[in-house]
Amino acid sequence: MNEWQLNLNEYSAEEIALNGNRFMLGNGYMGVRGTLEEHGKDELAGVMLNGVYDQAPGQWREPVNAPNPLFSVVEGAGKIISHEQVLDIRFGHVSRKTVYENAIVEADRFVSMADVHLICLRYSASGDLPIHTGIDTDVWDINGPHFQCLEQNETEVVVKTNELGITVAVCTAIEWLNERSFHKFTSIYTSLDCTDPITAARESCVRALAAGYAELSEAHDARWNEIWNRCDVRIEGDDDAQFALRYSLYQLQLAAPRHSDRVSIPARALSGQVYKGAVFWDTEMFMTPVFTLTDPAVARNLIMYRYHTLGGAREKALEYGFRGAFYAWEGQEHGNDACTHFNVTDVFTNRPMRTYFRDKQIHISADIVYAIWKYYEQTNDFSIFTDGAAEVVVECARFFYSYAFFKKDKERFELLDVTGPDEYHERVNNNAYTNRMVKFTLDTAIRVLDLLEEQLPADFQSLETRTGFMAELNAWKEMASNLWIPAPDPQTGLIEQFDGYEKLEDCSLKEIKGRVLDPNEYFGGGNGLATTTKILKQADVVLMLNLFQSDYDVETIRANWEYYEPRTEHGSSLSACAYAMVAARIGNPDWAYDYFMKTATVDLTGKSKQYVGTLYIGGTHPAANGGAWLSAVLGFAGLHVDENGIHLNPNLPSRWTGMSFGIEWRGERYQVEINGRETKVTPGKEICNV
Ligand code: BGC
Repeated sequence: MNEWQLNLNEYSAEEIALNGNRFMLGNGYMGVRGTLEEHGKDELAGVMLNGVYDQAPGQWREPVNAPNPLFSVVEGAGKIISHEQVLDIRFGHVSRKTVYENAIVEADRFVSMADVHLICLRYSASGDLPIHTGIDTDVWDINGPHFQCLEQNETEVVVKTNELGITVAVCTAIEWLNERSFHKFTSIYTSLDCTDPITAARESCVRALAAGYAELSEAHDARWNEIWNRCDVRIEGDDDAQFALRYSLYQLQLAAPRHSDRVSIPARALSGQVYKGAVFWDTEMFMTPVFTLTDPAVARNLIMYRYHTLGGAREKALEYGFRGAFYAWEGQEHGNDACTHFNVTDVFTNRPMRTYFRDKQIHISADIVYAIWKYYEQTNDFSIFTDGAAEVVVECARFFYSYAFFKKDKERFELLDVTGPDEYHERVNNNAYTNRMVKFTLDTAIRVLDLLEEQLPADFQSLETRTGFMAELNAWKEMASNLWIPAPDPQTGLIEQFDGYEKLEDCSLKEIKGRVLDPNEYFGGGNGLATTTKILKQADVVLMLNLFQSDYDVETIRANWEYYEPRTEHGSSLSACAYAMVAARIGNPDWAYDYFMKTATVDLTGKSKQYVGTLYIGGTHPAANGGAWLSAVLGFAGLHVDENGIHLNPNLPSRWTGMSFGIEWRGERYQVEINGRETKVTPGKEICNV
């Protein structure tokens, strides 16, 4: 077996949706689900366009699934006798061979990394039954329909989205190799890309036809080669972990926007319309850090997306009566918040439940500032601030100052009525994670403004003209020094997740699960099973400890890990990696290992919820994918990078005999090798010899 391949040796009707995720292709511009050529909307075939959203009347706003240009079928092929499907994660190709009763179909496809508008398919069928190939406009939507067809023939489809009137042109060109096999080149352009998407797509098809499948494939493969040279991690002594980690990186790269800084990576990447194709804090906390250290140009695009959506964040702050920037909990193309006030449906009454994700997860603005500062600290790219990030930082600090409450009797600032990462406990006071992140935001604003004044006084002045921060700077400084950060209990070392958490019912996860009346019931909200207990949805204090390790001694970190771990449900795929990183840090890599594997295999095993009631919530998990790299590199290798340099404190799981990976720090690339007790860091251009 090739160590870079995911193989499927039989056809399973039950796993069609799952295999659509497992065999994904993509390039940041679009994601193509790994369904078969003959599949359509019932099998959740999908060509998701990043950043193209539409709202059907009265429904959730979601990304548009384009007409499917891969659609090809052999008429009368009959039942499937055998099926093999291979995903090559090294070069991003999916191939299949299916023996039907009356024909054998073979295909290979890729979604070009070299030209993001291009999809290439090679298709052949044995026998003499008719082959039909075209563009399927009857697409899968969760909350559609999203477009009307303006033009449609066998090789071209032009549609217009209903809400915003965005034109999507899908053009194909077919090269018949003989009567039974062909190459099909597809080009997709939208009116967000250029003024004449139809002509652009046609011309691109003509170029593709002239270049041919082999040449296009070569260019695509070469880009994947560059990507792996940057991000690969080698693990010695554990093939399962090796594959799972590479597979996670593969999935993450499929959604990485290299072509634009106007889009980001949605919480289900480009695998479907789940979660409204929206961008959450997942990006800043679990994905951007991976790119910052491996491919900073991508990290920069992700950060700039937040600058371009600052307008939406300002409006949201105003909507709630605050100032500054309150970023969308579920961001779409203009920073508008797609999160509704009623985001969960109660399974018992079938009525919408009031949730406070949108209103109270204020930590989103701090998470963005965290990613910005780390990007600057690790790349030394000061231009990010003058290109817009300084304004983001200032507006986020301003938002938190306007949100905070000064308690006169205690002489401190507090953050009341918030929701931390643990969504099962909404509207709490002084969530440790949130308070610490807000302090970080204020400190960062002060630091950035100092640097700007010192290095680029004209830019400092122009930022002042645009935002008028000077009048508030002293107030932010005061808040930064007097903001309450929940402290470890002097006896136990425990940090209370929020005010009053200690008083909640302390029952085990098993006990809570024993109380479940409906398998899909929501644990949070007003009547949730977890709401009145200490059971948390996902890493909260532990995530905070992971980010601010140097503020706490190892004993405190250990005490909190041991306390919160049995109380965490891991109801979010974001949770496991935080537990993995902290376990490695406290010297328990074998505890960490299970959490690492959980995060690294989430899209391989499909062991995450696929449906809630009738709602499909499956898809890929890019935050968990990023979390796999973070667990391996920041966790097991113990990499810590700051303004002073690269530090390593390896704690490998017992079955790993070594690991190596590359990182980029301040414009230079370094190769890290950990073998037994020896750790070596070598500067060099070639990072990993894959
Ligand atoms: C998690 C959030 C996360 C969202 C999208 C939720 O289940 O609790 O933290 O941002 O999923 O991944």
